[in-house]
Amino acid sequence: MNEILEAGNWKNKMKGPEAVDAWMRQMGEQMKSKEIVSHVAVFPPLVFIERVKRLIQELSLPVVLGAQDVSQFSSEDKPVTGEVTAEMLKAIGVEYVIIGHSERRMKLGETDEILAKKVELAKSQGLKIIYCVPNAETPVPSGVDIIAYEPPAAIGSGKPESPEEANVQAEKIKAATGVQVVLYGGSVTADNVQLYTRQAGIHGNLIGGASLKPEDFFALVINSTPRV
Ligand code: PGA
Repeated sequence: MNEILEAGNWKNKMKGPEAVDAWMRQMGEQMKSKEIVSHVAVFPPLVFIERVKRLIQELSLPVVLGAQDVSQFSSEDKPVTGEVTAEMLKAIGVEYVIIGHSERRMKLGETDEILAKKVELAKSQGLKIIYCVPNAETPVPSGVDIIAYEPPAAIGSGKPESPEEANVQAEKIKAATGVQVVLYGGSVTADNVQLYTRQAGIHGNLIGGASLKPEDFFALVINSTPRV
């Protein structure tokens, strides 16, 4: 993948359908106004995924759709209330899935074993996997397409890791895992994005806070440097 991937992760922050519609429509207007070179993905909360998909189609947006998580159980397993499986995500047109975000590791107790199960199921459905790691020593299951390196102290803190250090860690991760596409995430904004995408080892970013307002995310996408 030569182009830069900018992935907007809305987390639990988009409050309702009106906010989703407004985000998508404004993004649509902005995207018409300039040539978009980077690859753009959005990761809405599960309840809004189908809505976002409809809007992507209706507005012909150059945006791909992802889910923020996937169940460790399959639809063939014994019943598990509340779970959304890889089969279901695939069936509604999801292309990418984030697995192993630090917030889920820390707040929901997701272990390497659980995450390996998620990777296996997502892979079996042909979903593209963005696997998050807090550091270069974190185990990465086989089958992962993209790794998002996100040092926890940088997430949502306004204190990003330096681009040079992020690049060193990204190269370490590539060497250790064989996965060749590594994103950096943690307090990336329209103002600093280019410092990261200019690094040879970094292929894009996972964006939390700066993806919530369409004007911020659009500015970030425009400012990200295309790889040549
Ligand atoms: P942030 O979140 O951009 O708000 O720091 C990044 C992430 O958690 O993916």
